Amino acid sequence: MKGGDPIAPGFPVVPDVTTSGNVGKWTEDQFVTVLRTGKTPEGREIDPKNMPWPMTAAYTDTELKALYTYLKSI
Ligand code: HEM
Repeated sequence: MKGGDPIAPGFPVVPDVTTSGNVGKWTEDQFVTVLRTGKTPEGREIDPKNMPWPMTAAYTDTELKALYTYLKSI
Protein backbone atom coordinates (compact mmCIF):
# COMPACT_ATOMS: atom_id res chain seq x y z
CA MET A 1 0.00 0.00 0.00
CA LYS A 2 3.01 2.30 0.50
CA GLY A 3 4.12 1.78 -3.10
CA GLY A 4 7.22 0.15 -4.43
CA ASP A 5 9.05 -1.28 -7.38
CA PRO A 6 7.18 -1.97 -10.63
CA ILE A 7 5.29 -5.28 -10.60
CA ALA A 8 7.21 -6.35 -13.72
CA PRO A 9 9.69 -4.81 -16.17
CA GLY A 10 8.04 -2.10 -18.27
CA PHE A 11 5.39 -1.22 -15.66
CA PRO A 12 5.31 2.08 -13.74
CA VAL A 13 6.41 2.37 -10.13
CA VAL A 14 3.57 1.28 -7.84
CA PRO A 15 2.33 4.43 -6.08
CA ASP A 16 1.84 5.01 -2.37
CA VAL A 17 -1.97 4.88 -2.05
CA THR A 18 -2.07 5.82 1.65
CA THR A 19 -2.12 9.12 3.58
CA SER A 20 1.59 9.63 2.82
CA GLY A 21 0.93 9.53 -0.95
CA ASN A 22 -1.23 11.31 -3.48
CA VAL A 23 -4.39 9.48 -2.48
CA GLY A 24 -4.15 10.97 1.01
CA LYS A 25 -5.03 14.36 -0.55
CA TRP A 26 -8.18 13.13 -2.31
CA THR A 27 -11.70 13.37 -0.95
CA GLU A 28 -13.81 10.23 -0.80
CA ASP A 29 -15.73 11.37 -3.92
CA GLN A 30 -12.47 11.91 -5.81
CA PHE A 31 -11.16 8.51 -4.75
CA VAL A 32 -14.35 6.77 -5.92
CA THR A 33 -14.19 8.66 -9.26
CA VAL A 34 -10.58 7.55 -9.85
CA LEU A 35 -11.39 3.90 -9.22
CA ARG A 36 -14.48 4.09 -11.45
CA THR A 37 -13.10 6.15 -14.37
CA GLY A 38 -9.28 5.97 -14.20
CA LYS A 39 -9.14 9.81 -14.25
CA THR A 40 -7.38 11.49 -11.31
CA PRO A 41 -8.21 14.92 -9.80
CA GLU A 42 -4.83 16.07 -11.18
CA GLY A 43 -6.04 15.27 -14.70
CA ARG A 44 -4.01 12.11 -15.26
CA GLU A 45 -5.54 9.09 -17.01
CA ILE A 46 -4.51 5.76 -15.55
CA ASP A 47 -3.80 3.11 -18.16
CA PRO A 48 -5.88 0.03 -17.29
CA LYS A 49 -2.97 -2.12 -18.47
CA ASN A 50 -0.96 -0.79 -15.48
CA MET A 51 -3.66 -0.45 -12.83
CA PRO A 52 -6.80 -2.60 -13.21
CA TRP A 53 -9.37 0.15 -12.54
CA PRO A 54 -12.04 -1.62 -14.69
CA MET A 55 -11.93 -4.16 -11.84
CA THR A 56 -12.46 -1.53 -9.13
CA ALA A 57 -15.12 0.16 -11.33
CA ALA A 58 -17.24 -2.92 -10.64
CA TYR A 59 -16.98 -2.50 -6.84
CA THR A 60 -20.04 -1.24 -4.95
CA ASP A 61 -20.12 2.19 -3.30
CA THR A 62 -19.80 0.45 0.07
CA GLU A 63 -16.69 -1.45 -1.04
CA LEU A 64 -15.00 1.68 -2.45
CA LYS A 65 -15.83 3.72 0.66
CA ALA A 66 -14.45 0.93 2.85
CA LEU A 67 -11.20 0.97 0.84
CA TYR A 68 -10.98 4.76 1.20
CA THR A 69 -11.55 4.57 4.96
CA TYR A 70 -8.91 1.88 5.30
CA LEU A 71 -6.32 3.67 3.15
CA LYS A 72 -6.89 6.92 5.12
CA SER A 73 -6.13 5.02 8.31
CA ILE A 74 -2.61 3.90 7.32
C1 HEM B 1 -8.47 -2.86 -4.61
C2 HEM B 1 -7.33 -2.84 -5.26
C3 HEM B 1 -6.63 -1.58 -5.69
C4 HEM B 1 -6.77 -0.29 -5.27
C5 HEM B 1 -7.74 0.28 -4.22
C6 HEM B 1 -5.84 0.52 -6.03
C7 HEM B 1 -5.71 1.91 -5.93
C8 HEM B 1 -4.94 2.68 -6.77
C9 HEM B 1 -5.02 4.11 -6.86
C10 HEM B 1 -5.93 5.00 -6.04
C11 HEM B 1 -4.11 4.50 -7.81
C12 HEM B 1 -3.80 5.94 -8.25
C13 HEM B 1 -2.69 6.49 -7.41
C14 HEM B 1 -2.24 7.86 -7.86
O1 HEM B 1 -2.54 8.28 -8.98
O2 HEM B 1 -1.56 8.53 -7.05
C15 HEM B 1 -3.46 3.32 -8.30
C16 HEM B 1 -2.46 3.29 -9.26
C17 HEM B 1 -1.76 2.17 -9.63
N1 HEM B 1 -2.05 0.88 -9.26
FE1 HEM B 1 -3.61 0.30 -8.11
N2 HEM B 1 -5.11 -0.30 -6.85
C18 HEM B 1 -5.57 -1.58 -6.68
C19 HEM B 1 -5.10 -2.70 -7.33
C20 HEM B 1 -3.96 -2.73 -8.11
C21 HEM B 1 -3.38 -3.93 -8.69
C22 HEM B 1 -3.96 -5.34 -8.51
C23 HEM B 1 -2.27 -3.55 -9.36
C24 HEM B 1 -1.26 -4.35 -10.14
C25 HEM B 1 -1.49 -5.54 -10.63
C26 HEM B 1 -2.14 -2.10 -9.22
C27 HEM B 1 -1.12 -1.34 -9.76
C28 HEM B 1 -1.13 0.04 -9.84
C29 HEM B 1 -0.18 0.82 -10.62
C30 HEM B 1 1.01 0.28 -11.41
C31 HEM B 1 -0.58 2.16 -10.49
C32 HEM B 1 0.09 3.38 -11.15
C33 HEM B 1 -0.59 3.61 -12.47
C34 HEM B 1 -0.03 4.82 -13.20
O3 HEM B 1 0.64 5.66 -12.60
O4 HEM B 1 -0.26 4.89 -14.41
N3 HEM B 1 -3.19 -1.65 -8.47
N4 HEM B 1 -3.98 2.21 -7.66
